[in-house]
Amino acid sequence: MKLLVVGGAGYIGSHTVRQLRAAGHEVAVFDNLSSGHAEALPGEVELIRGDLLDAASIRAALEAQKPDAIIHFAALIEVGESMRAPGRYYRNNVVGTLNLLQSIVETRKVPLVFSSTAAVYGTTDAVPIPEDAAMQPESVYGETKRMSEQMIHAFHVAHGLPYTVLRYFNVCGAAPGGDIGEAHPNKTHLIELACLTALGQREKMMIFGDDYPTPDGTCIRDYVHVQDLADAHVLAVEALHAGKTDAATYNVGLGHGFSVREVLDAVDAVVGTPLQRELAPRRAGDPPRLVADASRIVDQLGFAPKFTDLRDIVQTAWDWHRTHPQGLGSNNKDPSPLPLAGP
Ligand code: UFG
Repeated sequence: MKLLVVGGAGYIGSHTVRQLRAAGHEVAVFDNLSSGHAEALPGEVELIRGDLLDAASIRAALEAQKPDAIIHFAALIEVGESMRAPGRYYRNNVVGTLNLLQSIVETRKVPLVFSSTAAVYGTTDAVPIPEDAAMQPESVYGETKRMSEQMIHAFHVAHGLPYTVLRYFNVCGAAPGGDIGEAHPNKTHLIELACLTALGQREKMMIFGDDYPTPDGTCIRDYVHVQDLADAHVLAVEALHAGKTDAATYNVGLGHGFSVREVLDAVDAVVGTPLQRELAPRRAGDPPRLVADASRIVDQLGFAPKFTDLRDIVQTAWDWHRTHPQGLGSNNKDPSPLPLAGP
């Protein structure tokens, strides 16, 4: 299959590009490099520098590449930032996705796999969370993903566009071998921050609240390894292309969770020295427990995550960070980054 991976130079995108290549597929990447890195891509993968807000550029890429399917990762992803700059999030995530959808149905109506998030659920009593739980996002970021899901479904109904939505839980880790990994410009994720603390780039780890209704009082999350998530994309796009699915939504997680304290204990064990920890107030918007009901993707697509042990997951993250303490960084060195629209 020939695939166009939109946002393929980012953290999850670049791991997925690798797994697609390993499965024998041809890949081109369309990315504005606002947070992605050209050097995260294998040399044989063509990188098309473009922005979904420039509808002509994605249309031209579709016409030139003639892909058999598209995987769409391109989005701004920070919950806190989305509350401070909602315009940027609605424009980049919703208008960007709309431009992509419009271009697909006008040029080449091929299947679409879309990156969504557990943030579409918001706080829910359902644990583990099934896909049919109500969508009540509590952030602008989550809302942009819910709106994108709804637009994609409307294009399916109106234009017959086949699609699969993947709702990710807490994505973490790095490809074994340590040459690509998490390298966001702004760091907020627990495992990445703990690794950077172990490297001495931060003084200590803050635990955001220990009075939650969980066994040790800290929040529980479902940590899915980025390579397993990448494999889920390969399964999803192959099933779509084979006509086995045409309008499916799947959670992607392990189906069980770990607490903040359990994660920090695993980092201590992998790194070999205990990190300094400090109790801090709860972080706004953190639900106590977010765990996927992942049975649908296991049953229907044969998803079989390989990284189920927390220490193995943390080990891959640590291998990446200790060998790349400054991350990748081509986006920062780029002399002419494409502007992100608006405030
Ligand atoms: N945490 C700390 N200290 C830190 C950082 C995080 O205690 O320094 C805690 C958080 O309060 C939370 C847990 O660690 O309880 C995980 O936090 P992350 O920031 O790593 O991840 P989130 O659960 O907030 O969010 C991530 C993605 C979202 C996605 C969600 C789905 O960033 O986009 O997982 O489960 F929606």
